[in-house]
Amino acid sequence: MSSLPRFTLPLPAADFLRDYWQRKPLLARGCASGLEIPDPDTLAGLALEDGVESRLIMGGQQGQHGETASWTQRHGPFDEDDFRTLPESHWTLLVQSVDYCLTEVSLLLDSFDFLPPWRLEDIMISYAVRGGSVGPHFDQYDVFLIQASGQRRWQLGPACDASTPLQPHDSLRLLADMPVQEEHLLGPGDVLYIPPGVAHWGIAEDDDCVTWSVGFRAPRRADLLARITDECLANMPEALFTDPGRDLPEDAAGLSDTDVDALTAQALGLVTPERARQALMQLLSEPRQSGPDFAGLDFEVDTGHIRAAAPEAVLVRHGSTRLLADAKGLWLNGEHVPLPDDSRSLGTYLASRRLYDAASLNQHAGTAGMELLNEWIEQGFFVSLE
Ligand code: SIN
Ligand code: CO
Repeated sequence: MSSLPRFTLPLPAADFLRDYWQRKPLLARGCASGLEIPDPDTLAGLALEDGVESRLIMGGQQGQHGETASWTQRHGPFDEDDFRTLPESHWTLLVQSVDYCLTEVSLLLDSFDFLPPWRLEDIMISYAVRGGSVGPHFDQYDVFLIQASGQRRWQLGPACDASTPLQPHDSLRLLADMPVQEEHLLGPGDVLYIPPGVAHWGIAEDDDCVTWSVGFRAPRRADLLARITDECLANMPEALFTDPGRDLPEDAAGLSDTDVDALTAQALGLVTPERARQALMQLLSEPRQSGPDFAGLDFEVDTGHIRAAAPEAVLVRHGSTRLLADAKGLWLNGEHVPLPDDSRSLGTYLASRRLYDAASLNQHAGTAGMELLNEWIEQGFFVSLE
């Protein structure tokens, strides 16, 4: 029987958010299922494609005296020969944004509805043989590490930051030292949540070790400010500083604190909640990967598999389509589309899940909404399962 990828928190979502999210690791045994697709060959096939981000990391063998051999990292796209000439052990292939390429994989993200959709980033999948790992490191983003097949031994260390000493390797950013505080052996269906900054090192215990990493979007604060100010300054009529009723100068030679406050308040007054929302919706609905190099929509959807696993569904969102709904319409991959009057609730319905059934579509979309949906199907943003 086909099944879709699924993850269930082992505790109430509100408790997870209060006690674990961004705070401490959580081990959740047997909480994920439906992770048979993709197999390692499919993953290797993706790593041959232009525009799909992939890496091969080798190394980590322990020498006689406990020392760790040096690491190497190569970036894809790879060719068949690269895979034919790999050593027997101690390598990992990592493919980023597999959910964009394989819509079946993206359906796992519906299980993460205890977080808002803009907070989700992508699903990376790694395939490793015995001893394979990416080395001891920390990430800046939250991650759910989901064991799909084989076994991986995870060691967890302390919280790290920019001052934590690293090994002298340019791009891998491996920790110079990782005192192990916890160790867990994960098998198929087991999940480990790791908040940003926590040191971790996962080593494959066998030759069919596949791990999915659900990664989260944490926009850089500087990018948020830049986008908000760009939006607020666009088409802004010229307005000058004003100070009627001012007091005598407190500072005869420079800028007084009162004036600093007034100037700053008038500048920040240009940021209106409506414009800020517009800028944020645009930024956060942009796909992680887009542009001419990445033809995400070109990846075909395995409709047969989805239909067998979800017979109710008549439509699926393509894995590379990112949606956010607002009061007036839908943000689709960074573009705002107003919704027709007969289909106002369609945006919320489409953006809150990835599989759609006929009765709900009819309830949310009138004639004009259905026309729009058909255009999106033609453009590849959604795929019909009928
Ligand atoms: C892996 O899948 O091998 C590495 C994932 C991670 O450590 O973030
Ligand atoms: Co990591």
